[in-house]
Amino acid sequence: MAVEANKKMNVPITKPTLGEEEARAPMASIASGWVTQGPKVAEFEKRVAAYVGARHGVATSSCTTGLHLALHAIGVGKGDEVIVPSLTFIASPNSILYTGADVVFCDVDKRTFNIDPSDVEHRITKRTKAIMPIDQIGLACDIDAINAMADKHGLEVVEDAAPAIGAPYKEAKVGGRAHQVVFSFHPRKVITTGEGGMITTSDDELATRLRTLRQHAMSVSDVARHQADRVIIEEYPEIGFNYRMNDIQASIGIVQMNRLDDLLAARRARAERYNAELPAIRGLQVPYVPSYGAPHTYQSYMVTLTTDRPIDREELMTRLLQRGIATRRGIMASHLERTYTSRYGTVSLPVTEEVARTTMLIPLYATMTEDEQTYVIDALREELGSA
Ligand SMILES: Cc1ncc(COP(=O)(O)O)c(C=O)c1O
Repeated sequence: MAVEANKKMNVPITKPTLGEEEARAPMASIASGWVTQGPKVAEFEKRVAAYVGARHGVATSSCTTGLHLALHAIGVGKGDEVIVPSLTFIASPNSILYTGADVVFCDVDKRTFNIDPSDVEHRITKRTKAIMPIDQIGLACDIDAINAMADKHGLEVVEDAAPAIGAPYKEAKVGGRAHQVVFSFHPRKVITTGEGGMITTSDDELATRLRTLRQHAMSVSDVARHQADRVIIEEYPEIGFNYRMNDIQASIGIVQMNRLDDLLAARRARAERYNAELPAIRGLQVPYVPSYGAPHTYQSYMVTLTTDRPIDREELMTRLLQRGIATRRGIMASHLERTYTSRYGTVSLPVTEEVARTTMLIPLYATMTEDEQTYVIDALREELGSA
């Protein structure tokens, strides 16, 4: 349907899909009085683990705390190095610094924006303990290639899958193929619990350790103590954390899991329209889909501004904002932030720097209307011209 000329719409960068069911879901927890981590968290963990094909889900208060917990649980600490792409939200490398280990940044593949396995191997040293690949903006990285390299060098893999719930990878789903995979349920993600995260793993012993460490390293869980018919005095044999998700959040997450496949399909349909129409606009390049079996889930829709763009990115973002259209710069280059330049000086990552300079996120959400999308596409065409 054509949009009326000059009509100004407000199109946000994203919107969580939350309805009546999500609003009602926490009522049972509230009525029962069990509002911290309890049976709803356990149910949500089972749902996510089964969906991604892992034996365990360990819910956390966020993906950031989940990444820290995952690294801590395998003993990453002072004196160690962890290799991570710089092209990521700053939480990924920050989670490494929390452990006392050093961050070693690597570059990305210029088409997928995910870790470039060929840029990892030469960064491995005697101090390297783990690799942290990212499934950036919902596109699965080539985890088999990373696992193979990690096995060869005796390294751990902690996959940051913050944006990638539901992302397919070779007939499977992200979440079941690395030793530890960490998801985010922040509202910018495909499904949300307000804030929240989850580590999935098929390592039974590690799952037990993660559950203990997220709850102050307490020797007995709240639920077990609550259900016991004898007095249990708990112990704290090591330092742990309060990284719990609570039952209010998890009850929303369970409803969101029921919707996940529909939400993914709705995003994909809208992304496919962008994929079909944006190449006709000057200076825009649409996302690439790799050959290793990873269809995109489009947690965000990121365009690359090519050299023939008539205006620069910030000018384009400003003009779109004036039309009521929200955009964001593409993925950041973490190594250029002061936290890292002050520690490690100048690190040269040419692909990352180029991608961070020339990419831009445009609106995409499952409930985006046809009119809203037409408005965005028309605005881009008017500002940039036809290809
Ligand atoms: C790649 C990546 N890692 C980690 C995070 C942090 O997630 P959370 O906000 O759940 O801590 C994000 C959030 O956007 C992310 O994109």
